[in-house]
Amino acid sequence: MENNSVSKLITLYFFTVLFLCSEFIHCNVTYDKKAIVINGQRRILISGSIHYPRSTPEMWEDLIQKAKDGGLDVIDTYVFWNVHEPSPGNYNFEGRYDLVRFIKTVQKVGLYVHLRIGPFVCAEWNFGGFPVWLKYVPDISFRTDNGPFKEAMQGFTQKIVQMMKNEKLFESQGGPIILSQIENELQSNKVRGTAVRSYMHWAAKMAVDLGTGVPWVMCKEDDAPDPVINTCNGFYCDYFTPNKPYKPKLWTEAWTGWFTEFGGTIVQRPVEDIAFGVARFIQKGGSYFNYYMYHGGTNFGRSAGGPFIITSYDYDAPIDEYGLLREPKYTHLKDLHKAIKQCEHALISADPTVTSLGTHQEAHVFSSGNGTCAAFLANYGSNSSARVTFNNRHYDLPPWSISILPDCVRDVFNTARVRVGSSQIQMVPSNSKILSWETYNEDISSLEENSRITTSGLIEQLNATRDTSDYLWYTTSVHISSSESFLRGGNNKPSISVNSAGDGVHVFINGQFLGSAFRTSKQKSFTFNAPANLRAGTNKIALLSVAVGLPNVGFHFETWKTGITGPILLNGLDHGEKDLTGQKWSYQVGIKGEAMNLVSPNGVSSVDWTIETLATQSQQQLKWHKAYFNAPDGVEPLALDLRSMGKGQVWINGQSIGRYWMVYAKGACNSCNYAGTYRSTKCQLGCGKPSQQWYHVPRSWLKPTKNLIVVFEEPGGNPWKISLVKRIEHTQVASELN
Ligand code: GAL
Repeated sequence: MENNSVSKLITLYFFTVLFLCSEFIHCNVTYDKKAIVINGQRRILISGSIHYPRSTPEMWEDLIQKAKDGGLDVIDTYVFWNVHEPSPGNYNFEGRYDLVRFIKTVQKVGLYVHLRIGPFVCAEWNFGGFPVWLKYVPDISFRTDNGPFKEAMQGFTQKIVQMMKNEKLFESQGGPIILSQIENELQSNKVRGTAVRSYMHWAAKMAVDLGTGVPWVMCKEDDAPDPVINTCNGFYCDYFTPNKPYKPKLWTEAWTGWFTEFGGTIVQRPVEDIAFGVARFIQKGGSYFNYYMYHGGTNFGRSAGGPFIITSYDYDAPIDEYGLLREPKYTHLKDLHKAIKQCEHALISADPTVTSLGTHQEAHVFSSGNGTCAAFLANYGSNSSARVTFNNRHYDLPPWSISILPDCVRDVFNTARVRVGSSQIQMVPSNSKILSWETYNEDISSLEENSRITTSGLIEQLNATRDTSDYLWYTTSVHISSSESFLRGGNNKPSISVNSAGDGVHVFINGQFLGSAFRTSKQKSFTFNAPANLRAGTNKIALLSVAVGLPNVGFHFETWKTGITGPILLNGLDHGEKDLTGQKWSYQVGIKGEAMNLVSPNGVSSVDWTIETLATQSQQQLKWHKAYFNAPDGVEPLALDLRSMGKGQVWINGQSIGRYWMVYAKGACNSCNYAGTYRSTKCQLGCGKPSQQWYHVPRSWLKPTKNLIVVFEEPGGNPWKISLVKRIEHTQVASELN
C-alpha cells in the first residue's frame, strides 16, 4: 500500500516535470548515451542542411515546409562569418544574410535548428567562411592556439550567441535551436601538434561557457572534451562510436551527393545507398542524422569557395537547387523517415540485439521490456538478394539493403525498393526574350599610366585585392632594341612565359590578346607560355590574374600565396632570356567596369555603351554586355542558359547571379549502381558537357518589365544566344514507368 503511493507520487512528479518542461519552463536540451533529450524526452531526430545565403528569403518557407513534409525534424545551417562581418565591426544581417529571420521561419514551420557556428565552416564557401580581413590581423594564425585568432573567433561566436539569446531562439528559452556546433572537422589529434590540441580545448570551453542551455557538438573531432559531443561526417557513419559511453551517436553530415568544380563531373549518390547508409546507422544505435545537403542551393555572387567550385551547389540533394523536389530521392527518404519514426519508441528504449541471418545478413532487434519491438533486417551482400528467416517468417532482401519492421513482423520499408520514378527535369524556353545588347570594351590602353600601385617585383594578389575583386592587373613595359635579330626576320622566335600561383591569367602585349592559362584544382601553380608579338621600342605587357574562389579547405590556407609569383621571362631574344620578374610593375585592383559599377541599375555610368547587332558582334576579350528583358510569365523557377558564353560573371538588376564558366567536364563517367562496395558508391555524370550550363535566377530578383542584365565576359562569348529558361519538373510514378 505504502509502496504503491510512493510510486504514484513519483509518477505524478515525473509527469509534472514533463508538463512544466514542455508548457511553461523550457528545460535545457540535454543528452544521454541513447539520444538528444528534449523536454525530458529522448528523440530520434532527422535533420537536413539548408544554408540560408544559398537561397533567397522568399524561398525559405517553401524549402523548410518541404523539408517538414519530407519527414525532417531539424534544419541545420552553418553561420557564414564573412557575409556577416565584411569589415571588422561592420555587420550585415540583411536579405539573404538575415539569420534571425531564417531561424524564425524554421520555428514558424515547426522544426528545430542545429546552428553550426563554426566559425570555420569549410562548406565550399569562399575562404571557408572566414572574412579575408582576418588574414591581415597582425600575428594571426588560423585555428590554432593563437591570441589574435582566438580573440576574433570568440568575438564573432559571442556575437551570434547573444543575437540568438536576445531573440529567445535557443530551445532553453522556448526557441527552436536544440544544438550548436563549434569548429568544423578540426581533427586535432591528427598530426596537428599540441598548439592545435590546446586550441580545440579552448574552443570547446569558450563555447560551453556561453551558456546556451543546449548541447554543443564538434564534428570529426575525436577528442572533443566533455560535455561537447563528437560527431561523425561521411557517406556512412554506422561504424562510428562517440568518445564517451554516455554520449549519443550523432551523424552531422550524411552526404546526399557531392559538390562540383568547373571542369569536373557531376557527382550523384543513388538514394538506395543513402537510405541504406541511414538505416545502417540507426540499426547500430544512431539517433540523429543530418543530410548534407537537403537543399544545396546556389553560390551567388563570389561566395563559392575554391578554387573552381561552381555556382550551383545543387549537391544532388533531395530538394534541387531551384527548390523543386528531386525524385525518387525526396519521397524514398520520406518513406524511410516514416518507417524510422514508427520504430522511435523501441529505438530510444532499447539497445539492439544482433543476430546473424546468413553469411552477409543480420537482424538488429530493439526490444523493450513492455512489448515494443522493432527490427532491421540487413543484407550487406552487394551482388545477390537473400531470403532470410526471422521469427519464423521469410523476408526477401535485395542486395545492399535493409528492411525495417516497426513491430518486428511487417516489413514496411526496404532501402532498395523505391516506389517513385525519377523527376523528369526539363529546361524549356520562356516567353521572355533578351534583345538589343549593348557592349563596352574594358579599356586596357592606359593601365600602367593610371596605376596607383607600383613596386619593384611582384605582389601577392589577395594582399592587393583583399578579395574586393577576382581580378588584378600586373603591367610593365619592356624596351626591345631595333637591332634584335627576330625583328629582321632572324631565326629567333621570342616568347613569354609567366609563372603563377593564381587560378588563371589572361596575357596581353601592346593591347593585343595573346592567350590564357588556368591551373587545375590539383596544381598549386601553372605556367603560361606563348610566342610574343614584340615590336621595336616600348612594349606594354599586361597580365590579368584571375581568382576563381578562395580556398575553403586545407590547414593554414591563410598562408597560401596567390597571384603571379614569377618568374616572368622573355625568351628567344638575341641575348637569350630576359627576366622581367624584378623590374618595375604597376597594378590595378579589379577591372574598370567594376569600379564604375556598370552592373547597377541605378548607377550613373559615364560609359558609352555601343549598340551591337548580331552582325557586328565580334569576339573580343574582356567585354561588358548589357540588355533589358521582361520577366517571363508563370511561377516556375528560372535560369539563364549561358552555353554560348566563355567565362565571367553575370548580374540581374544589380544582384550577382554568380561566376559562370563553360569549361567541359573531364574525367571518367560511370553508371549509378547503388549496390557498390561500402564507401565507394558515388557515380559521375556529365562527361564532355559544361560542368554548369544553367544559372539560377531567383524570381524575386525580377520586376515585371525592364530588368537589367549585365555580363562581364573574359574570353569573348556570344551574348546573343543567352536565353532565359524555365525549369519544369514532371515526376513519373512507378505505374507510369511500367
Ligand atoms: C565536409 C565539410 C563540409 C563540406 C563537405 C563537402 O568535410 O565539413 O563543410 O565541405 O565536407 O561538401
